[in-house]
Amino acid sequence: MSRVAVFGASGFIGTASATALRQAGHEVLARRARRLWVDAETLTGSAWSAGRVHRASLAAELDGVDAVVNAAGVATSGAALTPALVGGNAAWPRLLAEACELAGVARLVHLSTAAVQGRAHLLDETLHYAPVTPYGRSKTLGEQLLRDAAEGGQLDITIYRPPSVHGPGRHMTAAFAAFCRRFPLVTCGDGNQPVPVALVGNIGAAVAAILRAEHAPFVVAHPHEGHTVRTLYETFAPGRPLCVLPTALVRSLLGMAEPTGQWLAPLGAVCRRAELLLFGQAQQSGWLGTRGFAPPLGRAAWDQLAAEARGAADEAADRAHASGPTGAGAPA
Ligand SMILES: NC(=O)c1ccc[n+]([C@@H]2O[C@H](COP(=O)([O-])OP(=O)(O)OC[C@H]3O[C@@H](n4cnc5c(N)ncnc54)[C@H](OP(=O)(O)O)[C@@H]3O)[C@@H](O)[C@H]2O)c1
Repeated sequence: MSRVAVFGASGFIGTASATALRQAGHEVLARRARRLWVDAETLTGSAWSAGRVHRASLAAELDGVDAVVNAAGVATSGAALTPALVGGNAAWPRLLAEACELAGVARLVHLSTAAVQGRAHLLDETLHYAPVTPYGRSKTLGEQLLRDAAEGGQLDITIYRPPSVHGPGRHMTAAFAAFCRRFPLVTCGDGNQPVPVALVGNIGAAVAAILRAEHAPFVVAHPHEGHTVRTLYETFAPGRPLCVLPTALVRSLLGMAEPTGQWLAPLGAVCRRAELLLFGQAQQSGWLGTRGFAPPLGRAAWDQLAAEARGAADEAADRAHASGPTGAGAPA
């Protein structure tokens, strides 16, 4: 057993990570992240001194801690590149690594994202970056700052990249279920393209697996959970047909939206999400696979999550219908 401090333990992934770490026998200390505001130029230049203000007090919180998991950050895929985004996703992990180094913490596992590789044909465990959204850029900067910290210090850093994560109560899961209920299920090709999605319980298990190993590589990617565009739609909208769109037309429409998506971050994020469903994206089998790690939650857990999300989407639609202009459903 070791003492593991989890930052962002109040969040979606932090909660799952803390649970899995406790189940693995670790003592888990929930810690709150500092809120930092800084622009990318200041952060990468020599002038950024704000971190020093927090470093010593943060290091004091890590006294006697063996490992740190950073599940804190700004997980908003449609966010603009603001000082809050850079502060949460790049300055904060840098500060945390510095504090870990100061406190003599042996290991840091940082939650990054597959979005740092953008549209790469194959998601892998390399440092080839191609982010397409401001969110992806801020997470890329966080990884690069941690790479510098790993090269210059004693701290053993692992960057873990989950893809889109689904789970109970998650807005993205509810929104996907509502989308599947309301709109045609569109894709390009035969629908058998792999889709990089994960269940939050499997993310927690992967974090625990990383810490179970004496040492992990600098980058660890989440393994493919077996979904294709077709199986994901079938899970969330059983029985509904798949509509195949012409690839060339879709690519040209997305291409037309791209320049606007570059400055209108929410549009860029929506287009990127649509691309994933239309074209899919492959994941290389990485280090977790070589360690014999298999996501513990399989198809049955996906089915259960989708059934709950569908139920909630149906209820929301019924409520909207009942409070509609006809007044149907109002008390007599
Ligand atoms: N959800 C996904 O689909 C997904 C996919 C890939 C990667 N990730 C990454 O995983 C990490 C956790 O995501 P999540 O979905 O669990 O997010 P979340 O539910 O929003 O939780 C993030 C936690 O970070 C802390 N936090 C909030 N604002 C912050 C700020 N401005 N600066 C620093 N910390 C802040 C909060 O914890 P405290 O109040 O306890 O500090 C919050 O509970 C993020 O770094 C995200 O980029 C998420």
